[in-house]
Amino acid sequence: MKNLIWEAEGARRALITGASGGIGEAFARILAAEGWELALVARNEEQLNRVAGVLRATHQSRVRVIPLDLSKPESGERLVEALGKYGMEPDVVINNAGFGLAGPADELPLDEQLRMIDLNVRAATELSLRFLPAMKMRGRGGLLNVASLAAFMPGPNMAVYFATKAYLLSFTEALAEEAAGSGLTISAFCPGPVRTSFIDRAGMRRTWMVRLMRPARADKAAWDGWQGFKEGRVIITPGLMTTLTAMLTRMTPRIMNRRITRLLLAPRRGRKSRQEATRTAQAKETSEVAETTGTTGTQTPETPRTGKRGDG
Ligand SMILES: NC(=O)c1ccc[n+]([C@@H]2O[C@H](COP(=O)([O-])OP(=O)(O)OC[C@H]3O[C@@H](n4cnc5c(N)ncnc54)[C@H](OP(=O)(O)O)[C@@H]3O)[C@@H](O)[C@H]2O)c1
Repeated sequence: MKNLIWEAEGARRALITGASGGIGEAFARILAAEGWELALVARNEEQLNRVAGVLRATHQSRVRVIPLDLSKPESGERLVEALGKYGMEPDVVINNAGFGLAGPADELPLDEQLRMIDLNVRAATELSLRFLPAMKMRGRGGLLNVASLAAFMPGPNMAVYFATKAYLLSFTEALAEEAAGSGLTISAFCPGPVRTSFIDRAGMRRTWMVRLMRPARADKAAWDGWQGFKEGRVIITPGLMTTLTAMLTRMTPRIMNRRITRLLLAPRRGRKSRQEATRTAQAKETSEVAETTGTTGTQTPETPRTGKRGDG
């Protein structure tokens, strides 16, 4: 059944989470240019106002800013209240807010990883389920849930993040099937690495994955996601490399998937490590000379050891 949202007369309304930067901001720009009325959610109010200001100035868009920490359990209710105050019922919800953390799961802070589940899983689930019934009643619009290529495989060194995205993909596919014939579009957007603050926030900059899969631009990623949604695709993997990788994970044994991902998520030993190794060697040499000559040598502070995560 055709999604009537594309032919709707009058204002079309979208809620975008994580719209203070990165892919979410890029979605906001695309939708504003198409004349959508927007509600933008993230924690950083100043950044949200900056994005909204640009959209109002450039596209004369009607943009509401709702600063909220979506990892908090009460945030779903507060969001619904805020939208009610504005008299806004979203036709489309883009569940985009999310973050990742790189490192062995048992060494990363537990509370941060649980907060990741609260945001990437609980909040996306709650917002999907809060808005879906009204969308079904109207028989148009839908959900665009931003998962990741990470959804297709286990992620050693980013175990919780990959698992949250696997959940989101599975959940979204199932919702799409439940909504078949309703006129809604329900999609999981699964990009590979994208050039946003996500990579640094997650501590992934020095992984082979980021090096080998050249990160896409945020505006290109959001464009691909939005086009895929408009085409009514349930799983959107943008670009040849991402599509092939997602396909390959389904053809190869899981043991291979997790071994390869482990290598890709391992921190690279880059120039910095080599410099440190050189400094360590020099410091060792100096202390050996000092020992043989009986002098104290240069007071070189102990060079920090490169940890087993090799992120130095
Ligand atoms: N970049 C990539 O390589 C990549 C690849 C695949 C999938 N993704 C997915 O794409 C989505 C967007 O990521 P991005 O790359 O655009 O990263 P980003 O630039 O770090 O943006 C993340 C957005 O989420 C918001 N956010 C974070 N914590 C939040 C919270 N507790 N409550 C409300 N909003 C919160 C951030 O705003 P505030 O900090 O202001 O709250 C920001 O607007 C994420 O779901 C990510 O998993 C990213």
